[in-house]
Amino acid sequence: MVPISLELAQRVSAALEVAFGEAGARVDPLIRLAQNPQFGDYQANCAMALAKQIGAKPRDVAGKIVQAIDVAGLADPPAIAGPGFINFRLTAEAVASRLQSIAPVPKSGPDSLGIEPATDPITVAVDMSSVNLAKEMHIGHLRSAVIGDCVARILEFVGHRVERINHVGDWGTQFGMLVAHLRAASPDALSDLDHLAVADLEAFYIEAKRNFDVDADFAEQARKTVVLLQGGDPDTLAVWRGFCDESLRHCRTIHDRLGITDLIDRGESFYNDVLATVVEELTQRGMVEKSEGADCVFLDGFVARDKKPLPMMIRKSDGGYNYATTDLAAARHRLRELGARRLIYVVGVPQKHHFAMLFAALRKAGWAGDDVRLEHLAFGSMLGGDGRPFKTRVGGTVKLKSLLDEAVARARRVVKSGEEAEAGKRPVLSSEEADRIAETVGIAALKYFDLSHNLTTDYRFDWDTMLSLEGNTAPYMLYAYARIRSIGRKAGIDYTDLPDEAELLLEHEAELKLAKALLRLPEVIATVAGDLRPNLLTDYLFELSKAFSQFYDRVRGVRVIDAPEPQRTSRLRLCDLTARTLRVCLGLLGIDTLEQM
Ligand code: ARG
Repeated sequence: MVPISLELAQRVSAALEVAFGEAGARVDPLIRLAQNPQFGDYQANCAMALAKQIGAKPRDVAGKIVQAIDVAGLADPPAIAGPGFINFRLTAEAVASRLQSIAPVPKSGPDSLGIEPATDPITVAVDMSSVNLAKEMHIGHLRSAVIGDCVARILEFVGHRVERINHVGDWGTQFGMLVAHLRAASPDALSDLDHLAVADLEAFYIEAKRNFDVDADFAEQARKTVVLLQGGDPDTLAVWRGFCDESLRHCRTIHDRLGITDLIDRGESFYNDVLATVVEELTQRGMVEKSEGADCVFLDGFVARDKKPLPMMIRKSDGGYNYATTDLAAARHRLRELGARRLIYVVGVPQKHHFAMLFAALRKAGWAGDDVRLEHLAFGSMLGGDGRPFKTRVGGTVKLKSLLDEAVARARRVVKSGEEAEAGKRPVLSSEEADRIAETVGIAALKYFDLSHNLTTDYRFDWDTMLSLEGNTAPYMLYAYARIRSIGRKAGIDYTDLPDEAELLLEHEAELKLAKALLRLPEVIATVAGDLRPNLLTDYLFELSKAFSQFYDRVRGVRVIDAPEPQRTSRLRLCDLTARTLRVCLGLLGIDTLEQM
């Protein structure tokens, strides 16, 4: 099923060419959702732009397009409004026949809901989570992991091959300090590095840092360890590896709980051996200049406030490499070895400048050609309810684990209150079931709340909103899904047994509205996969769930279970399509649905 907006665009383009020849063929039809549903479902805004180009009146241009257009099997004859907008209203038959063509849920494999896979699948590398292994994951890491996972799922859904790369910080001077601390504080642990256990990484880091600051001998030891580490001393490397592995195990527990899988842990150290080559290659291309003993890349358009060119340092005067060098090496690896044609970095807004320079350098070096998309998916910070940086009550950073635990505990209370409200109307949940539901709802609430915000802006964390059973929240969507599943049970049917040849009847306004919302999925997915904006998907879910509420409403909607045939089957099919759409979209957000809540 192609997006309706695309079908319309093709029809308008054809009309533009018929009516205006060459000039018309070059114009973007500019199909948008109708600003006011009273006038239709979609509008084409191209008449104004074309009128300007050819020096005609926009309404006349619109009139010619309308005369030339063929909307058979799709929409009613279009109408012109305002300065020259062309409004389209889809016909009920067109909507019904397209939904009708959606195949049933396959016996195995994912439900595609009629969305065709990309004709030009590529490999995409998504850099996500990417924590520093010296410390525990804290709430700042939630966004990169959750957004990256969502983006990866969407790109996979539309048929691309995705490499999820956890570009962990596992190299640098602080590791000398940590290795030295481990040797000093827990010498016993060194005998079994494969099973090294550091219960609290954060505390461990703080202790090491304090020793480093107050104990000159220890600081000296730490510095020596850095040298050994960089020199490749096997014993030191083994302890370092043991520490990194343990830190990665901490990450993995969190990722598992967040439902993030297929993550490749590929730390910065992975690229150590090619850093010299990277500098050499760039030097050969004449991109490197010495500046105060350091090797720097200067790129057009990057200047400091004092207008002086801003360098990207790739080798320090002491011969050490830095963050930028590693990222150049990593990108080169993703492009050359993995064959990626789209590099996505899910990293906070503060690194905007770093990525802008990185991308410019990759282009200039010729490593990323015109066929490669480079994107920094910059996200804003999560703020506390007071609008200040999110902290614990005593001002510390909030560990991600505590945050997840609290979300689940709070969700448990929501589940319980829901149960109390429905006491007697349904079987009581066992305590294990309630725990399982709370785990799903709690994590879902956190993710959904995060993803429903515009990526780049900061947002305020708010437990009450994210756990509310009303509005654009995970609990509401999960509830809507469970409700539709229970409608099927009450109707005594299995949705998968509904005859797919049975006609969809869209007679009532609420039926047509729901069907149109269902039909919007392909274009929403296409936009989200292009622009990487998960909040468009949550907005869509909200729109769909509202249309469903209205459809199922006793007063504004239609009867379903007790409707006569053939309406009953048609309406149950709409229920099923809604549930499937909710499940697929929530799945793309990394959220599992529940049959019962
Ligand atoms: N570890 C880095 C940090 O915590 C983020 C890494 C992001 N990814 C990258 N390829 N630079 O700031």
